[in-house]
Amino acid sequence: MLLLVLQALLPCFCTLLPGVEPAVSLEDFYPFGPDQGDTQTTAQDDGGSGLREISVAFPFFGDRHSGLYVNNNGLVSFLREVSQFTPVAFPIAGDRRVVAPFWADVDNRLAGSVLYRQSQDASILRRASGDVRTYFAEFPDFNATWVLISTWHQVTFFGGNSQTPVNTFQVVLITDGELSFTIFQYNNITWTTGRHASSGGNLLGLGGIAAQAGFNAGDGRRYFNIPGSRTADVVGLEETTNVGYPGRWVFRIDDANVEVGGCNSGENVNECASNPCQNGGSCKDQINGFICECPPGYMGVHCQTGTFHPFPQAVMTQSRFPIYNLPFMQRLCFHSIGIGCDICMLLPFQS
Ligand SMILES: *[C@@H]1O[C@H](CO)[C@@H](O)[C@H](O)[C@H]1NC(C)=O
Ligand SMILES: *[C@@H]1O[C@H](CO)[C@@H](O)[C@H](O)[C@H]1NC(C)=O
Repeated sequence: MLLLVLQALLPCFCTLLPGVEPAVSLEDFYPFGPDQGDTQTTAQDDGGSGLREISVAFPFFGDRHSGLYVNNNGLVSFLREVSQFTPVAFPIAGDRRVVAPFWADVDNRLAGSVLYRQSQDASILRRASGDVRTYFAEFPDFNATWVLISTWHQVTFFGGNSQTPVNTFQVVLITDGELSFTIFQYNNITWTTGRHASSGGNLLGLGGIAAQAGFNAGDGRRYFNIPGSRTADVVGLEETTNVGYPGRWVFRIDDANVEVGGCNSGENVNECASNPCQNGGSCKDQINGFICECPPGYMGVHCQTGTFHPFPQAVMTQSRFPIYNLPFMQRLCFHSIGIGCDICMLLPFQS
């Protein structure tokens, strides 16, 4: 994704505000830090919180989990600790039942902290309930009873140092004991890869086998990957979204067969096979969708529109979220089966 300077794209017509990058600001993170009662994991390479018992059984991929691990390497796991630092492509087996906002070789000995807390605080539960009701219109009465907030604050990578680039992101797990949801929030992703030989990152933490974001049942079958995972594009995570807010991804995760499995269980169909891109656009296959990269002067989901609009134009598609055409950029959304799988990206207008 391009690291261009754009205002967060709101569901109204946008004006450009130079100097503001699309990302979730720290003010929009769930409150975090020692002041909020967070526990910090030990500064240890490939370490984590160890097993934490949780007070409300958390439904995930059909099971209820009574404990979890916050792993330094950018993921929360349910069945066992994850010290693995080079992400293997989902789906993976071996009890890797994980929610992974940013699985990569974090090294909190060098810079930053990994923080977490369980919360049943009334204001946090209210906020979490409100988020679920906002993003899932089918649950207007949802009342959260338990929330986990885990934040990676200004963490750098293995092989880096106290001056190397840092990332800040957060994962929130929410449940009422029956339904469960997760929110990924990205404030700034500037590195993607640790420098261990098996990861292959460079001095800036780029290149090699880049971070993976999504979740995985651990059965070798069910998973969801945020597009761009394990590629250089993952550095632009703070510009992508499935809820119309760059840097934020929200999923229902209790019943993976419906919400997650619907996105990618079974085979991934090659949606490019039908040549959906017109006017010389090149097609990029995605999970349950496609993206047309349009030649100069064309835009639209299928590159069907030949007019350059100097001002934002919104066009509804099969996605719940509109397309925005901005000068030099367009926000493309495509629909994947199941709620939470409308995926929006900022793409260059002219490639
Ligand atoms: C959530 O709480 C509200 C207010 O207490 C209540 O009216 C509603 O029935 C609750 N929803 C569910 C699903 O229990
Ligand atoms: C992200 O970090 C980079 C490198 O430190 C910095 O240049 C950039 O301004 C940051 N972006 C945001 C949105 O904070």
